[in-house]
Amino acid sequence: MNAQPSAREVAQFRDLIATRLGLHFDESKLVNLAKLLALHAKGDCGAFLTYLADATLAQLAALAPELTVTETFFFRYVDQINAFAEVALPACVQAHDGARAVRILSAGCASGEEPFSLAIASRERAGVTESQVELTALDINPVMLAKAARAHYTHWSLRDFPPELKQRWFRSEGDSFVLSDSIRRMVRFENRNLADSDPAFWQLESFDIIFCRNVLMYFTPQQMQAAVERIAGALAPGGYLFLGHAETLRGLSNDFHLCHTHGTFYYRRKPHLSAPPSYTPPAAVAPHWRPGEVLGDTGWIAAIADASQRIDVLAARAPPAASSAPAASAPDLQRARAYLHSERYDRTLEQIGALAFEHAGDPDVLLLKAVSLSQSGALAAAEAACHQLLALDELSAGAHYVLALCREEGGDTAGAFSHYQSASYLDPEFAMPRLQAGLLARRQGRPDAARHDLAQALLLLKREDAARLLLFGGGFKREALMALCRAELTALGDYP
Ligand SMILES: C[S@@+](CC[C@H](N)C(=O)[O-])C[C@H]1O[C@@H](n2cnc3c(N)ncnc32)[C@H](O)[C@@H]1O
Repeated sequence: MNAQPSAREVAQFRDLIATRLGLHFDESKLVNLAKLLALHAKGDCGAFLTYLADATLAQLAALAPELTVTETFFFRYVDQINAFAEVALPACVQAHDGARAVRILSAGCASGEEPFSLAIASRERAGVTESQVELTALDINPVMLAKAARAHYTHWSLRDFPPELKQRWFRSEGDSFVLSDSIRRMVRFENRNLADSDPAFWQLESFDIIFCRNVLMYFTPQQMQAAVERIAGALAPGGYLFLGHAETLRGLSNDFHLCHTHGTFYYRRKPHLSAPPSYTPPAAVAPHWRPGEVLGDTGWIAAIADASQRIDVLAARAPPAASSAPAASAPDLQRARAYLHSERYDRTLEQIGALAFEHAGDPDVLLLKAVSLSQSGALAAAEAACHQLLALDELSAGAHYVLALCREEGGDTAGAFSHYQSASYLDPEFAMPRLQAGLLARRQGRPDAARHDLAQALLLLKREDAARLLLFGGGFKREALMALCRAELTALGDYP
């Protein structure tokens, strides 16, 4: 028996947490995991690890309070609450036309602020009665569920909650605010593990709206993908999915349309699911996770390899040009890309046009085509290529970026801004949409927005992939783009 866990036991503990709870802990957390293992194992790590491998939810739940982040508050991301109340809920109420209640799931509900916010928003904003909405809320952490059941909240939990609603739905009791019974009884709480595929719960098409915010960001990529597949299956066709601000389905699922209203993003399930496994991300775009450096409040940044890397892969697959063959008759992507880099867009397009038929609809080829067309001023054709690409891969950040450039060039600044935002949301590591959105905001006389986007662009440019800069940088090098950001920030009074 060993009081202190060995490195192998800590690694085994981490793997068990990943497979049983879905939660991912990187190397920097191993010391904390070792302490937790020592605490729970009570001197016999081997026996505890064996017990954990087959533990029930109740047994696993004992670990949850120490492993999970439980930060939440009422009306968190109020834009999403508005989109829920003004778009998703009315659409679902109308679809059921009174035949049954709208079924809503809050997965990873913590101490209840999220599902109770949805209950209040339903009653307040959409004129929906108590019986028209059925809310289920689940969490793995029993301590949080006990707080939810008590429904006593602090001022801090209600910091972003409108005062008039506080008066209507809460009563004061000492330092606490107690939620009204008529909202409390709208939500049914369950102690449940989102990483558990229990078919009795995840029944096909059993929910109309699912909120799963700031939960998947702590999952391993494999568990995240499995959870998204379950969610997609459990949502009715046309049902809505809300993720946290820094979470995207890019590289995870092809079963959803992206929605962008109320200044926020969310998803709508497609009528038909792709055959399982629903979506296998190409190796080069498989998500991997690292601490949030740009968006700040989350531990998630989808660091997704960019499309130009995929172009490399494709280029490597394309048959090499025979040395004796003239360039024009030996199309390959490396050459097309080289022409793009030297700003000879007509030659790039020639190379693409000469590709074998089976490559013509490849997402990477379409992106290269869209970039070349937009750079050569053929805006309508560039937009058409982007739409063709989005029909294949609705979550293509590159397509949204090129569309934004075209929209801006054509004078549609609102459309441009919306597509820059979509590109940044879908790939938070993508520097160019931040830069262009910052420049656009400055031209529009919105200095705060300009400062924010340009500062983010400067951070991202430092580590932006070189191949992606060549593809999207419009002929400018990293240093030049960074100098531009600094100059703009200085002009905005934000840079020494
Ligand atoms: C940061 S809170 C998010 C709360 C709320 N969704 C929001 O965005 O304000 C994350 C919650 O997910 C829960 N959670 C983490 N892993 C889980 C799992 N495997 N199954 C169910 N809930 C889980 C945690 O216990 C925690 O309460």
